[in-house]
Amino acid sequence: MAKFSKDKKTILSGIKPSGELTLGSYIGAIRNWASLQSDYNCIYCIADMHAITVRQDPALLRKRTLIQLAQYIACGIDPDKNVLFIQSHVPAHAELGWVLNCYTMVGELNRMTQFKDKSARHADNINAGLYDYPVLMAADILLYQADLVPVGEDQKQHVEICRDIARRFNGIYGNVFTLPDPYIPSVGARVMSLADPESKMSKSEDDSGCILLLDRPEDIMARFKRAVTDSETEIRYDPVSKKGISNLISIYSAVTGKSIPDVEREFAGCGYGSFKQTVGEAVVELLRPMREETERLLADRAYLNTVLASGADQAARIAARTLGKVYKKVGFYTADK
Ligand code: TYM
Repeated sequence: MAKFSKDKKTILSGIKPSGELTLGSYIGAIRNWASLQSDYNCIYCIADMHAITVRQDPALLRKRTLIQLAQYIACGIDPDKNVLFIQSHVPAHAELGWVLNCYTMVGELNRMTQFKDKSARHADNINAGLYDYPVLMAADILLYQADLVPVGEDQKQHVEICRDIARRFNGIYGNVFTLPDPYIPSVGARVMSLADPESKMSKSEDDSGCILLLDRPEDIMARFKRAVTDSETEIRYDPVSKKGISNLISIYSAVTGKSIPDVEREFAGCGYGSFKQTVGEAVVELLRPMREETERLLADRAYLNTVLASGADQAARIAARTLGKVYKKVGFYTADK
């Protein structure tokens, strides 16, 4: 069980198990989670309630949920230091989500770009959950009084609306919620598809330029070799006019820890072909131990279930404190003991 210290700030983040983890979610989010675990009290959920805002195959959702837990651990998120749990195992998320709905304006939700994108892509299923998604995410964050939310660039707007909801609630009832700040990496906050550097690398859509953390080395190499670039020859970071090459430079920088100018210097005069090969190899070597460790962990289901039980228990206890406070503030009656 993770031991939390009163002197440390709190972190909360999550990922939907709506597809397998991608290199984008690793570089944009998980890599940071691993680096923050010693300095913060960290809580990470597998956001299965968010996943069903888009139709899921139930058996596959269950399977991916467990794989995602194994991957969190294999990526270095130590269950003895971090609280790891499944969102639907802690009912307080839905409960606080309902209360926060009553403190969220429809006009605010109408401005969410992810809702607009997703409703365009899932025009046959524009359900209320998809619309209300940012409120549930606000509940995820506020329940734990999180100070920091490490996410990729695409989630920044959701953290901002969470702050707005918290500020509104605090304005009425006093300081109930901590206002969270997004924590977005300076490199790799938006990893683009290798096949289409105009769009974000994405797990849930049909993205042939997506690298999954469990992909085989030969598939990874093939995707990097086919990566879309431009008709020039210079390896230069310019995310406006050289999107493909800039994406590869960012990936290489994030994976190796080298700065972008150092990467440009290292590959000055080198051809695109050999650069793609080097980036692909670096990614293969990064992912190899994670894939092996994920497979090893998945063979030990009893251990994974223990991690989940203890995570849900610890999360539920923290969440209950906040929910109790909220219920009292809004005027819900509790019988005298
Ligand atoms: P999700 O599941 O879409 O993505 C998980 C995390 O990975 C980041 N990410 C990326 N970063 C860089 N480049 C990419 N191509 C890329 N793709 C994904 C995302 O920014 C995110 O940090 N709503 C959230 C899940 C969630 C959550 C929360 C996050 C639920 N509750 C509470 C924080 C706090 C989502 O859909 O992320």
